[in-house]
Amino acid sequence: MQQPVRISPSILSADFAKLGEEVRAIDEAGADWIHVDVMDGHFVPNLTIGPAVVKALRPHTAKPFDVHLMISPVDHFLDAFAEAGADIITVHPEAGPHLHRTIQRIKALGKRAGVSLNPATPAKMLDYVLEEIDLVLVMSVNPGFGGQSFISSQLRKIEAIRKQIDKLGKPIDLEVDGGVDANTCRQAIDAGADVLVAGTATFRGGPERYAENIGILRG
Ligand code: DX5
Ligand code: ZN
Repeated sequence: MQQPVRISPSILSADFAKLGEEVRAIDEAGADWIHVDVMDGHFVPNLTIGPAVVKALRPHTAKPFDVHLMISPVDHFLDAFAEAGADIITVHPEAGPHLHRTIQRIKALGKRAGVSLNPATPAKMLDYVLEEIDLVLVMSVNPGFGGQSFISSQLRKIEAIRKQIDKLGKPIDLEVDGGVDANTCRQAIDAGADVLVAGTATFRGGPERYAENIGILRG
């Protein structure tokens, strides 16, 4: 069943020179989760942050860290992100040879496990793992950068996954990531998403606008 909408601002759009302050500001502005985009310059064409930064941010909020790993191979970094304070660890099926094993490892570390699908990756990829996971992350842009436009074909994928989740009857979160703004948030929610990642749309206008920005996305 679709759950109440939660907002997970992506700190990729924050001011990296004051990340601790930025995380505290979005927490106070009503963010439900904190979305951390980890990129390796190999799986995606950009480099961002590693476990040391996640660890440094951990004391700045009690909100869940929603860690999106865009790194390959991913397995040998799972323990480090778990130890650094991740609450949800999301991986891409293309980021390692044994997705099922990767999911088992995340769960063995006591974390919630997510699987993320790129725009060209079919929902079918979830057929034999959906019952094992806590979250599905549908990429509505090609991963690597903030500020891109929402790819509307992904709405059909969200609808299809919503049906699969409901059929299973397990409270699996259905998250959408990329190009989520005041217009596309409604389309994503109507298609069945219940967690919205938003970088540009959250951080636009500076800290005094964060609460208003998050409120707009929540609808
Ligand atoms: C893209 C990242 C997203 C991105 C979202 O690779 O996974 O989380 O930062 O940024 P906006 O909301 O600006 O599209
Ligand atoms: Zn992301």
